[in-house]
Amino acid sequence: MPFCTCTDAGALKVAEDPACTRPGTAELVPIDTQPVVGETPSAALRSWLTPTPLFYIRNHYEVPDIDPAAWSLSIGGAVSNPVEISYSDLLRLPKKTLPAMLECAGNNRSDLGPGIPGNPFDEGAMSNAIWAGAPLKPFLQQAGITPDAVEVLFEGEDRGEPVPGRDVVPYQRSLPLQVALHPDTMLVYEMSGETLTPDHGFPVRLIVPRWYGMASVKWLTRIRILEKPFVGFFQTERYVMEDEAGIDQQISRMEVKSFVNWPEHGTSLPIGHPVAISGMAWSGDGPIRRVDVSLDGGETWQDAHLDESALGYSWQQWHVDWTPPEEGHYTIIARAADDSGSLQPLETRWNKLGYCVNGSKPVCVTAV
Ligand code: MTE
Repeated sequence: MPFCTCTDAGALKVAEDPACTRPGTAELVPIDTQPVVGETPSAALRSWLTPTPLFYIRNHYEVPDIDPAAWSLSIGGAVSNPVEISYSDLLRLPKKTLPAMLECAGNNRSDLGPGIPGNPFDEGAMSNAIWAGAPLKPFLQQAGITPDAVEVLFEGEDRGEPVPGRDVVPYQRSLPLQVALHPDTMLVYEMSGETLTPDHGFPVRLIVPRWYGMASVKWLTRIRILEKPFVGFFQTERYVMEDEAGIDQQISRMEVKSFVNWPEHGTSLPIGHPVAISGMAWSGDGPIRRVDVSLDGGETWQDAHLDESALGYSWQQWHVDWTPPEEGHYTIIARAADDSGSLQPLETRWNKLGYCVNGSKPVCVTAV
């Protein structure tokens, strides 16, 4: 569904749209090529729905080539009745749609400063889509989970050395049982109205709303019910919060966060002309209750207007109407609060691997 929303405020272009000619905004911002990693250009983040060609990509290994007719998903381990699901079985079931954003745990890593290993993401390692598929829960129930089960392990078809020299392993991640059984944890085969693309997990991926993106395993082929917590590489050596004192927790739900995506840092605004300062906010702990915006670097704050946009588990768009009153520099900061009472911090908690960066990011503009 190619469409174009070129505006004076910034261009968003889907590559196939010949009517849209603004250069430099048509593609993912490349971060790596082998495997492919790319982030959503900031202009595309101003749209509620991210066009699939601009949805960020975070692959750890090469994309596997899967024939959907030969594909099946097995559920085994601590179960009384192992289950095998084919692609056509899945497509025959009633289709459930669910808007949900994904944010990579390394989003905004580059804000933490130099010396942090990992992909140097700006704020585009996040995107929003409408997913379609079937809830996972009935399949787990059909498999008959045994009473000692504690976690559910998900395995992708992709594999490789997680770091050079290590044994080849598939991409694997586990979830606590109650998260796997949540009615909105889904097996999905469509993304914003179209068949899932190879980069995003074709034929079938998991979507775990509210959790950082690493939990939403792509190219899903195997599910195993575990009686002990999983200790694989992507569970215990990556996607963990680690500082000088060591590892203190595995990463799970997205931290409360917001940012300003218009105006851009460094913009000049004419005095006396109204502008809408806008951005988005989200949290893995619940809906956004409030976004505070400051125009003076955090001295004073005002409530932003929450737009009617936060369907399902997508981000909340917000704006503040403002007319620059006089010449000068203004430092715009946004800070979100969610329904669980969590407030976005002004500073991110530093950690060795650069995860969960959610400090408020100032945007400086000049009124002329
Ligand atoms: N699943 C598999 N099988 N392999 C992967 O490399 N990357 C994870 C997750 N699922 C990954 C995966 C990470 S770290 C993120 S942030 C999301 O997929 C990114 O999903 P996307 O590429 O569709 O945006």
